[in-house]
Amino acid sequence: MDWSRLKLVALGGALTVAAIGVGALLYPLTGLFDTAATVPHSPLVAYMVHNTMIHSVRDRADGLAVPARMSAADLAAGFCSYDTHCVACHGAAGVARAKFADGMYPTPPYLISQPDKWNDAELFSILRRGIKMTAMPSWQNTLSPQQTWQLVAFLKTMPKLPVNGYAQWRRAGLCRGGAPVSLPRPAPLDESTLPGARVRPTAETAEAAPSRPVPGRP
Ligand code: HEC
Repeated sequence: MDWSRLKLVALGGALTVAAIGVGALLYPLTGLFDTAATVPHSPLVAYMVHNTMIHSVRDRADGLAVPARMSAADLAAGFCSYDTHCVACHGAAGVARAKFADGMYPTPPYLISQPDKWNDAELFSILRRGIKMTAMPSWQNTLSPQQTWQLVAFLKTMPKLPVNGYAQWRRAGLCRGGAPVSLPRPAPLDESTLPGARVRPTAETAEAAPSRPVPGRP
């Protein structure tokens, strides 16, 4: 290929790239992209936003120092924060999320189905920072770091509660100073069932959550 042809090809390439750039800048002005919460993302956009979020969270949580131990009181405080701030959107075992949450896009997931999707540091990071372009708020102006770790401890425990455990914790009146003695056992105290979790139930947890049979539990 001679020199002038090469220059033509390079010019054509540069013009194409410029046209794509200008097209991308003008696309939002066309109204073609539907921002309605009732219209799901195309597979391409879904792939982009989902993976961007996962890698952004992992990257920012990397190296975060995780508290080694949480007590039964921390777990109970985490439950109370969840019941106050989160259950309307995310629901819990035996507790449906609020009807309005079904109208969000993306809908807030029930946080019991994928207990190992995030490690403690990642959960902390999600709670502190929120998730852009979704209804997931940042809680850093609402909850202290300690309250956030308490929530993380509860999030890791919630999937291990018996089916009616959440309702029982509510009934126990924990958040109104109720007796923690009536807590159902929160989780199997077996570390191998908490892969990656560094928030461990302690002896105090076991004491506050006696292993006597829970009514209605097989
Ligand atoms: C107004 C509704 C709303 C409230 C309140 C809310 N969230 Fe969310 N949350 C969302 C939405 C929507 C998503 C999904 C974001 C996405 O798909 O990327 C989400 C995502 C999450 C995730 C990541 C889930 C996953 O599988 O990737 C966690 C963890 C979480 N929220 C925890 C909480 C906790 C804990 C609270 C209470 C402190 C809370 N959220 C309060 C709407 C809410």
